[in-house]
Amino acid sequence: MGELNGKHVILGITGGIAAYKAAELARRLKDAGAAVRVVMTASAVEFVSPLTLQAVSGQPVRTRLLDSEAESGMDHIEFARWADLVVVAPATANFLARLAGGFADDLLSTLCLATEAPLAVAPAMNRVMWSKAATRRNLVVLRADGVRVIGPDEGSQACGETGPGRMSEPADIVAALAGILSPRSAAGGLKVMVTAGPTFEAIDPVRGITNHSSGKMGYAVARAFAEAGARVTLVSGPVHLPPPGVERQIDVRSAQEMYDAVHAAIAGQHVFVAVAAVADYRPESQESHKIKKNEDTVTLTLVRNPDILASVAALRDAPFCVGFAAETRDVETYARGKLEAKKLDLVCANDVSAPGSGFNSDTNTLLVIGRDDSVRIGPADKEEVARILCQLITKRYEQKNRAQDP
Ligand code: PMT
Repeated sequence: MGELNGKHVILGITGGIAAYKAAELARRLKDAGAAVRVVMTASAVEFVSPLTLQAVSGQPVRTRLLDSEAESGMDHIEFARWADLVVVAPATANFLARLAGGFADDLLSTLCLATEAPLAVAPAMNRVMWSKAATRRNLVVLRADGVRVIGPDEGSQACGETGPGRMSEPADIVAALAGILSPRSAAGGLKVMVTAGPTFEAIDPVRGITNHSSGKMGYAVARAFAEAGARVTLVSGPVHLPPPGVERQIDVRSAQEMYDAVHAAIAGQHVFVAVAAVADYRPESQESHKIKKNEDTVTLTLVRNPDILASVAALRDAPFCVGFAAETRDVETYARGKLEAKKLDLVCANDVSAPGSGFNSDTNTLLVIGRDDSVRIGPADKEEVARILCQLITKRYEQKNRAQDP
């Protein structure tokens, strides 16, 4: 945890029952060598006393934006500049919404807007609030803005329900914060290419063949690698998602365009992760004008698209290749078949018929199959699944490289 040693950390606390865990978080941050300053919202003060946080942090706790006494010591802009890292734990649904909206109507939201330091949030709320569309939307915005989201965990909640929404344990939050400050995390220096989303195979100028991929899984994988320090090239089919904050993004439409974009940039990549749901077939020819409905039946001849993943894995200097296998039955058997047929290092079997898994959902479950073993990831938020997958791929890539070193 050396990354936190000597660092200036602002710990923001918002008003939820998990606020009581913030005292332990402050203590652990101090134990890791960080200088901690605590800022509490008005509702956080209803849950835990500023005196407790003052005792633990060893510094006066700030609660108000327009506090002339505190502002005369270190005004809020100076305070925002002081921070090497800002973490809001617990972060309520209301605070996430205000942060996503760019509000600056109290000290904590103002600091979050005024700081140039990395910003992390550890959400905590009732499981239904966590799964609500508004919260999901706010998280998409925050992640696209570069805010790191830590947790939440699953389990029994203060409201008596069970599910996702418990604030992550303080030790896990401290470990995640150390990772954010790490100058070179495990994936640092790696060049990673990710394909994401569907492809669109045009029939005529207004119609085409596509599928239900939203791009969420692929974008989460790209973001997880970027956050872990990798230099990420994302080749994306047509989706409705904000850019995930990677070094380079190439937008394409058809499988052939995706193939061309991948091969134009594959040289020098260390890892290739094919999450895209690529159309296996395209219409043999594309009409230049809209097809009129003059006939009772129309015959469409489809021809095979090139297999992008198999072609990358067959390169002489092939990167470490990870495929995804979307299946609805005999998931593991078919996925293993793709591992062998496409000569992959890993394949992520994705049962897309299971509820809360696969196309367009916010959550997923993967069985990551290698030649010697397999690891299950999830069920969890796609962002969480992507983070664990990123760690696993990085580890396996290093093991393979070590084994190949003379
Ligand atoms: O985008 P989301 O809504 O978040 O959904 C995520 C997902 C379900 C799309 C994703 O998790 C997933 O399973 N992606 C793979 C989908 C798929 O089409 O699998 P496949 O079994 O047809 O293809 C196997 C592998 O070969 C995939 O890695 C695919 O990217 C690749 N492939 C396939 C065909 C082709 N012509 N070129 C390829 O590179």
